[in-house]
Amino acid sequence: MFMASRIQSRAFSASARQLSKVTVLGAAGGIGQPLSLLLKLNPLVTELALYDIRGGPGVAADISHINTKSSVKGYDPTPTGLSSALKDAKVVLIPAGVPRKPGMTRDDLFNTNASIVRDLAKACAESCPEANILVISNPVNSTVPIVAEMFKARGVYNPKRLFGVTTLDVVRASRFVSEVKGTDPVDENITVVGGHSGVTIVPLFSQSSHPDLSSDAAIIQRVQFGGDEVVKAKDGAGSATLSMAMAGARMANSVLRAAGGEKGVVEPTFVDSPLYKDQGIEFFSSKVELGPEGVSKIHPVGAVDAVEEKLLEACFGDLKKNIDKGKAFVAQNP
Ligand code: NAI
Repeated sequence: MFMASRIQSRAFSASARQLSKVTVLGAAGGIGQPLSLLLKLNPLVTELALYDIRGGPGVAADISHINTKSSVKGYDPTPTGLSSALKDAKVVLIPAGVPRKPGMTRDDLFNTNASIVRDLAKACAESCPEANILVISNPVNSTVPIVAEMFKARGVYNPKRLFGVTTLDVVRASRFVSEVKGTDPVDENITVVGGHSGVTIVPLFSQSSHPDLSSDAAIIQRVQFGGDEVVKAKDGAGSATLSMAMAGARMANSVLRAAGGEKGVVEPTFVDSPLYKDQGIEFFSSKVELGPEGVSKIHPVGAVDAVEEKLLEACFGDLKKNIDKGKAFVAQNP
């Protein structure tokens, strides 16, 4: 027992010693700021690069006073700002772009965010082609294919290094279930598959310890449209930022833990996936085991019940359209 814990703490301090530069693109935004704060508190991060079209250095100066070991630097869009922020990055998180206002779907953000993500992906492909890219900017179902197309066009696409961040859907599902069942959310591991918007978000309660919830339309609706609660409550001031920052920081931490050699790190995430390629769906979120190479193993969806089968069918239709829209955008606006 003693030996095991000593070996484990040695393993963790060894991985903490690895040089892990993490870059946030859109670091001065509603998500970017708390996300950067949480990354500053993560001992696996040795260098933090904070880029935004405005305000990156200010956020960096503030965060740099926190007494953890990592170095922090802010970057503006000077001619070399973005490339310097990205150089040698192990993980790049992208929360750059506009958030929703009441009444908007994530797809309504496409026109603005598609070109922002395209340009940032181009910079990543040129300055840090081997980094793990974690896309937060919505609509994730379309922005992830956009990043893939930009990397492909430059001959540097590695599907194992590209992740759409869907962690918030899982965080919400476990929290909402715990509220209904009066349990501790830490013990509620709800698998959520598909994509990251509306009906493409498919919670699989039949695989949880509460299979009865798979026929509970209200909780399914809440997991699928939980983001709308925040958009409505913020009343024009944006969408989820704080819970999203927590979810993004969790995902980045998992990628770094796996990069440092820790085994058995599994996160749900929207990746280039073989699961439904025969149906024309190139990207899909399911449980993914992470490793030093990025994506190590994509878990199948597993057994689902009749209700979930229907939810998956609805998911496929929208998801395919969203993915195709992202690909078409790059084809028309390379
Ligand atoms: P925000 O407007 O508060 O912040 C966005 C930041 O991006 C701003 O600081 C802005 O200056 C910056 N920015 C814009 N263009 C840029 C560029 N070309 N390069 C670098 N930075 C740029 O928005 P917020 O609330 O932080 O949301 C950001 C994105 O995250 C939105 O698209 C939102 O829909 C998405 N989101 C994703 C979630 C997910 O689960 N994946 C959950 C919640 C939001």
